[in-house]
Amino acid sequence: MSAGPGAFDAAAADAVLLAPLLWEPVAAATVARSAPAAGERVLDACCGTGPSALLAAAAVGPAGAVDAVDVSSAAVAQLQQAARSAGGLPCLEAHTADATAWPGRGYDLVQGVLGVFFLLDPAAGTEHLVRCARPGGRVVITTWATGALAVAGRALVEAVAAVREEALPAWSASAAAQQLGEGAALAAWVGARGLDDVVVTRHPHAVPASAEELWLLVLGSGFRGLLSGLAAAQVARVRDLYLSGLAGGDDVDATFLVATGHRPEVPGVPSGA
Ligand SMILES: C[S@@+](CC[C@H](N)C(=O)[O-])C[C@H]1O[C@@H](n2cnc3c(N)ncnc32)[C@H](O)[C@@H]1O
Repeated sequence: MSAGPGAFDAAAADAVLLAPLLWEPVAAATVARSAPAAGERVLDACCGTGPSALLAAAAVGPAGAVDAVDVSSAAVAQLQQAARSAGGLPCLEAHTADATAWPGRGYDLVQGVLGVFFLLDPAAGTEHLVRCARPGGRVVITTWATGALAVAGRALVEAVAAVREEALPAWSASAAAQQLGEGAALAAWVGARGLDDVVVTRHPHAVPASAEELWLLVLGSGFRGLLSGLAAAQVARVRDLYLSGLAGGDDVDATFLVATGHRPEVPGVPSGA
């Protein structure tokens, strides 16, 4: 998925509208796997507008703590608003910060939902997140499965190229996202970041192929970066072309993978050794 600087700031309000169709189901499946327990300390890296952080906060309760971290101040503001609407959630703190430089340590659980492939250096950034967990703590990484959202990405890039009247390379997932889109490859990659007991689960999901939902998928995600610099009339033409490119198609595949693992009790030594 393409996401230039500021794409997630611009998308934050619409990401909240898109959440029930996409972000919340992904968060629910991830948190079902990460299983935050009452009283635990959790780091939610690349939290966006916070669907997985909010679920973790509800699970850890007042005796626990959740630090939710995202570089997008607009996304963090949406999360803070959602926490206020939920009655305050004193155990949840949302921070505008680079997760790869986050100084917190000793978390029982670190979760990164659909974020690690956006990090400047996904391997080094994820290794940093692993170090944020306590020895023996859980680390959970969610990624898109190969092909997820591809039909929408391709239609959007074709529409933007037509409106800009310039040739654009056909849409493809970023190299990092491609690398993490298959179960075995994701398990090996996460293991190479220092986790043991790695298990990857696959979660089929789809976004309904109605015009409103297909356009929300653009406005409320990193796809929005492709609209940057276009005037309102051009955006309207992109919308029409994009929707006609997808007309009559199936629901948009948004299958995702959830990798769970543990930081070894003694760093560098797998717990089975
Ligand atoms: C696809 S969104 C996912 C958001 C959220 N986890 C969810 O599932 O709804 C990816 C998020 O990663 C954030 N992000 C990218 N690089 C980051 C970094 N270095 N540190 C913290 N957040 C980052 C973006 O701002 C964006 O909110």
